[in-house]
Amino acid sequence: MCGIVAYIGNKQAQPIVIKGLKRLEYRGYDSTGISYFDEDVLHTLKTAGKVSDLQAILTNTPENGATIALGHTRWATHGVPNDVNAHPQTSNSGNLVIVHNGIIENYASLKKELQYRGFTFQSDTDTEVLINLIQDVQDKEKVKLGKAVQIALSQVVGAYAIVVFDRQKPNELVAARLGSPLAIGIGENEFFVASDATPFVEYTKNVIYLEEEHLAIIRRNKAIKIRKIKDDLEVEPYVEKLQLSLEKIQKGGYDHFMLKEIFEQPTAIKDTLRGRLLSQEGVITLSSLREHENRFLKAKRILIVACGTSWHAGLVAEYLIEDFTRIPVEVEYASEFRYRNPIIYPDDVVISISQSGETADTIAAINIAKEKGAFVYGICNVVGSTISRITDTGCYTHAGPEIGVASTKAFTTQITVIALIGLYLGKANGTLSRSQYQEYVIELESLPDKVESIFASQSYIKQVAASFETSQNCIYLGRGYNFPVALEGALKLKEISYIHAEGYPAAEMKHGPIALIDKEMPVVVIATKKGYYEKVVSNIQEIKSREGRIIAIVSKGDIQVKELADYCIEIPDSSESFVPILSTIPLQLLSYFIAVKRGCNVDQPRNLAKSVTVE
Ligand code: G6P
Repeated sequence: MCGIVAYIGNKQAQPIVIKGLKRLEYRGYDSTGISYFDEDVLHTLKTAGKVSDLQAILTNTPENGATIALGHTRWATHGVPNDVNAHPQTSNSGNLVIVHNGIIENYASLKKELQYRGFTFQSDTDTEVLINLIQDVQDKEKVKLGKAVQIALSQVVGAYAIVVFDRQKPNELVAARLGSPLAIGIGENEFFVASDATPFVEYTKNVIYLEEEHLAIIRRNKAIKIRKIKDDLEVEPYVEKLQLSLEKIQKGGYDHFMLKEIFEQPTAIKDTLRGRLLSQEGVITLSSLREHENRFLKAKRILIVACGTSWHAGLVAEYLIEDFTRIPVEVEYASEFRYRNPIIYPDDVVISISQSGETADTIAAINIAKEKGAFVYGICNVVGSTISRITDTGCYTHAGPEIGVASTKAFTTQITVIALIGLYLGKANGTLSRSQYQEYVIELESLPDKVESIFASQSYIKQVAASFETSQNCIYLGRGYNFPVALEGALKLKEISYIHAEGYPAAEMKHGPIALIDKEMPVVVIATKKGYYEKVVSNIQEIKSREGRIIAIVSKGDIQVKELADYCIEIPDSSESFVPILSTIPLQLLSYFIAVKRGCNVDQPRNLAKSVTVE
């Protein structure tokens, strides 16, 4: 995710854009920039860092009276966060500038084509490719800016929200979207374009939410024109009235960032898979694996180091990678690994998993692995983070910024990357048959929709949460792939509601935890169809006979568990290996609603930090 703000009107544009970008920093904050057109000169200022860093630079530049400007706050996807990769990106002619939110999947082939025709590139971004593609169309077709943008976008595969400015047409902005949001504010002789309505909420309540694959031509003092990109039809703009508060808009209308991030998971998983999974062709493209395939295939062992929720994703990885590749996997808490003189062989592959890419213990574990000659692969969400730089190679999750301290979308996208890795390697070393591989690939693509369908149970989960609001303790049980989910479910509850919760492999209950069960004890059991269903049903019977209160996560259409459990939350059926991506969703919602009921600070729980950069 990135934030976009643009203005055209009769006010001074720069302060409006800067203030708007600050409000959009929840969408990304690793680098930022602005272009404004003042006295026939197009100025572009960019910097790594936050909007306040850009503001500091602007205070040292002369006052300007520009009434048109476009700005961007970035959450990097292509190229590390630095001044050059920051947006706006400029075309080779110097006439066109663009701000972009999204990912152009086919940027590499487009770039090659443009380079062949003499275009040069300063940055590593897909965005610079797009703006040069627009220039190329303009040069060749001699069409107006709007048409050039439209033709260029029809050659693009991926997701985008863009605003483009041409210094030769200084009274016009062109905006377009596919897969990333754009809102257009309509004021008195002025227009605003932004990733959401927060940047212009105090100026106008009239807003057009640009539809998918629509393009808007916004001219000073003229009516907005909107066209469909594909079939080139003009459509009537639909103007709505804004009713939300500023804070609510930033949270996408949700009460908390955590809830917003839970609901973002279908999109986040799609973004993780974007350009990497071509299900029809049965192809997984992960350049980091392709380039280092032999390191993985020759590895006698894979070690995984991580902390917190990322460590739980590591446990899922242990099951999945071993199942798919038959390469032994060990998972370690990075904080233990770094201090226990671990045995590491040079032919080991170490996978580090981290949302932030800045966790001190994980960084230290990576350094030890590197000192001992292991090959280190990083799975991170934050592009350009320390871990992404110190590892030998790796893969980003592309989940967008995660602001709620309790990790949600980072977890499910980490597992998505792990699934891609497992499938890629399983196919490469022949441990997965062609048909198994193909079935998994197709199923992986269906996961975002399956996640989405779970949200239909939201109000039921809220009801369940209300019955456990005053609980002091809670046990989470799961077997196989659902064991890490039990741990993660318990962690979510502890973190945000301060209820003591423990996750166990269901079969371990008889070795201790069963002593805790009485009619006061809520027990969350993940009892999905595939895997060890009958065994988990027996565990549920053991709890039932000790009067425990059972909340079960079951597969759609379940009959057996429904007869035993006090509450049942259904999830769609899936293969065992992908079930954690689904079974974790109701547990996130359950913790969230319990914490809200208890009046806890969901997004910033006491004593916790989003990223632990100290020991
Ligand atoms: C902190 C956060 C957790 C997170 C853990 C690891 O404790 O509160 O949500 O799982 O760090 O963070 P990482 O960024 O390395 O995934």
